[in-house]
Amino acid sequence: MADSAQNYIQKVKQLNEKKDTPPLAHVHNYGCQLNVTDGEKMKGQLLKLGFGLTERPEEADFVIFNTCAVREGAEEHVFGNLGFLKQYKEKNKDMIICIAGCMSEQSAVVEKIKKSYKYVDIVFGTNAISKLPRLIYEVYMGRKHVYDMSEQSSSVTEGIEQIRNSTFKASVPVMYGCNNFCTYCIVPYVRGRERSRQPDVIINEIKELVKNGYKEIFLLGQNVNSYGNDLEENISFPWLLRQINKIDGEFIVRFMSSHPKDAGRELIDAICDCDKVAKHLHLPLQSGSNDILEKMNRRYTHEKYMEIINYARERISDFSFSTDIIVGFPNETESDFESTLDILKKVKYDNIYSYIYSKRAGTKAILIDDLVTYEEKQKRIQRLLELQRDISTDNYKRFIGTTLTVLAESEGKGGEGSLTGKSNEFIIVNFSGDKSLIGSFVNVKITAARNWAVYGELISQ
Ligand code: SAM
Ligand code: SF4
Ligand code: F3S
Repeated sequence: MADSAQNYIQKVKQLNEKKDTPPLAHVHNYGCQLNVTDGEKMKGQLLKLGFGLTERPEEADFVIFNTCAVREGAEEHVFGNLGFLKQYKEKNKDMIICIAGCMSEQSAVVEKIKKSYKYVDIVFGTNAISKLPRLIYEVYMGRKHVYDMSEQSSSVTEGIEQIRNSTFKASVPVMYGCNNFCTYCIVPYVRGRERSRQPDVIINEIKELVKNGYKEIFLLGQNVNSYGNDLEENISFPWLLRQINKIDGEFIVRFMSSHPKDAGRELIDAICDCDKVAKHLHLPLQSGSNDILEKMNRRYTHEKYMEIINYARERISDFSFSTDIIVGFPNETESDFESTLDILKKVKYDNIYSYIYSKRAGTKAILIDDLVTYEEKQKRIQRLLELQRDISTDNYKRFIGTTLTVLAESEGKGGEGSLTGKSNEFIIVNFSGDKSLIGSFVNVKITAARNWAVYGELISQ
């Protein structure tokens, strides 16, 4: 970081030290795993500035809402919760409220905050995390409102300290931004163009994480398959997976998301050849209809998508898939929707994440005059979920009688002595065991499958 940034850190730290008790900061993340990673970096900055961290916004002196703009619901959630912060601020007049994340990159949202949420002190965009010390300093110096929606960066800022939320699961972005401009999606507008991190920086970060006991490394990018396209060296994501696989230690590698237009045999081969890479691919379909895929600007067809699935299953018959589906893209017909159901039946995903299409200002799809009613879209998503519930229930039965290696993640819903974790296939596994096992790999013999999870008994190691 530049010298001036260091100066602001010192200045804010000194001001915080003068307070009777160290001020407390609260960071609430609203978005995807990348958003959570940004939140971890914000926490890293806040600790350096002399803040303590709290999970309770009502006792905080400094609150960051790290927002998401992907669907309208996500934005409404933030504006709803801002109302609560107003009440807290009435009790603690010195409370500083800060809006960060993807919503802050939309000028209409910023205007709304300026006009109707005047008690918000700081608004900063996704590329301004390293500027947080200066922004806080300006508010400490009496400036009423501080806004920093800097231009989308063309480079990657490295070296921002991060307070990770877990001691055994770590997300590692391999790239930022997106070049794809799917017609429904706001992400390229709020995250800018693709920027890959240098491979040696990624590999050193993972080595350090593994050395510190991290067991799950989750690689992130809006389309990891375009990793390296903007770097000078001739490198690709499958190459990166193979390099990471060479790192010594006991850990599993997962990644998200993989755009089907760029997912080919090279990717599937790398997954199958690398023992540390999970045999699971999250391959967002969005729609099974070629007509809708074209209108979405997804640049693959139903048939090309199925080729990837079939090749993976040729190599590993049990290869696990999950996906994202958008139901009710403008003017989706019954027959378009049935093409999506058709792919669900063919692929037999272990899991799907489905959303009703949400209009996003600034995207191309908002211009389409949509004739399908919201009620019809709701009915379709119900049908989709019912079909997938039956598929998952049926799929999960394949694990009964087998032994799965599971990363124990937390105590389960069954109270003391119950644990829950994820298998290599990213399936939720519930079992009984001591909480000292959390954060380690265990073997579980599966005895039952129901409600989007499997159940089993711990096998002594
Ligand atoms: N880059 C990833 C990809 O291409 O698959 C997706 C990232 S996006 C944050 C996660 C998911 O949100 C998408 O796969 C899509 O299903 C969903 N999504 C994005 N925009 C949406 C919209 N306007 N309405 C509903 N769902 C949307
Ligand atoms: Fe959005 Fe498409 Fe980019 Fe994914 S690939 S972030 S859906 S524009
Ligand atoms: Fe993630 Fe939401 Fe931004 S999904 S990239 S936090 S718009």
